Amino acid sequence: MAARLAGLAVLLGLAARGPAPAGAAKMKVVEEPNTFGLNNPFLPQTSRLQPKRDPSPVSGPAHLSRLSGKCFSLVESTYKYELCPFHNVTQHEQTFRWNAYSGILGIWHEWEITNNTFRGMWMRDGDACQSRSRQSKVELTCGKSNRLAHVSEPSTCVYALTFETPLVCHPHSLLVYPTLPTALQQRWDQLEQDLADELITAQGYEKLLRAIFEDAGYLKTSEPSESAQQEGTKGLRFETLESCQEAYKALSQEIKRLQGMLTQHGVPYRKSAETPSSEHWGPQTPTAGIAEPLRGDPGLRGETL
Ligand SMILES: *[C@@H]1O[C@H](CO)[C@@H](O)[C@H](O)[C@H]1NC(C)=O
Ligand SMILES: *[C@@H]1O[C@H](CO)[C@@H](O)[C@H](O)[C@H]1NC(C)=O
Repeated sequence: MAARLAGLAVLLGLAARGPAPAGAAKMKVVEEPNTFGLNNPFLPQTSRLQPKRDPSPVSGPAHLSRLSGKCFSLVESTYKYELCPFHNVTQHEQTFRWNAYSGILGIWHEWEITNNTFRGMWMRDGDACQSRSRQSKVELTCGKSNRLAHVSEPSTCVYALTFETPLVCHPHSLLVYPTLPTALQQRWDQLEQDLADELITAQGYEKLLRAIFEDAGYLKTSEPSESAQQEGTKGLRFETLESCQEAYKALSQEIKRLQGMLTQHGVPYRKSAETPSSEHWGPQTPTAGIAEPLRGDPGLRGETL
């Protein structure tokens, strides 16, 4: 109740200053006058910026590490965006409304790497957005000075930032290989050799290359759900004991059915892999010819019956 009264006092205080000038909505506010949303002690704790986790360590090209600890802002329409490379991206509504929105659009997570080149910085785990977290991809492009040049939202709650800096103007400034420690460079060399010798597939190459980038700290280990899907184990996981027992029952019945078919055709088989020396089943004594391992269509064996 006291807080509500206090909030009302703030509103009345604002009203007492009179209506805002007509052009105020379009005015670009470049300084930091808006502390109502951020530091207003009457606001509930949840409306202040609360990062979900610490940023990842600074990584990548050494000459970019000097950007760490600095912040660059851009005012676009009624929002001020702030990029702190290797730390975070935030958004601050430029209004004197008592509940002005401020939010975290991402916390420094990992690099995006394609074609041996650092393509962008991913800032993830920002404030909640529907069921996901806001995230931002920061693209580094060559420019005369350090400047947050552009912000857009290509898909819901995924933001694209363009950061201009003289630090990436040299054509080799974003290459990955030269930034790696010798041991990882040697692993990469070996990988190229193995690919050339066709000892690994292109797919295997991509996977092993990713592991090198992960070991370097440039990429973070992918989500468990993703890797589980990659390994194709998704369908083999059981949510409950009940569904596991049902699957077991179904498999047991399938084994019985297959055993029945083998028996019907007089094909010998072993009861299970654990008892390789167990006796053959079946009503007929197998001949030497049938005892060899099965390959292909059991129908071919019709002539031996
Ligand atoms: C964003 O990063 C800057 C620079 O390190 C830091 O001062 C600020 O507290 C961070 N903001 C949030 C909401 O974490
Ligand atoms: C990959 O990089 C090389 C040299 O850095 C360049 O010549 C080539 O066009 C790039 N390919 C793609 C698909 O970006």
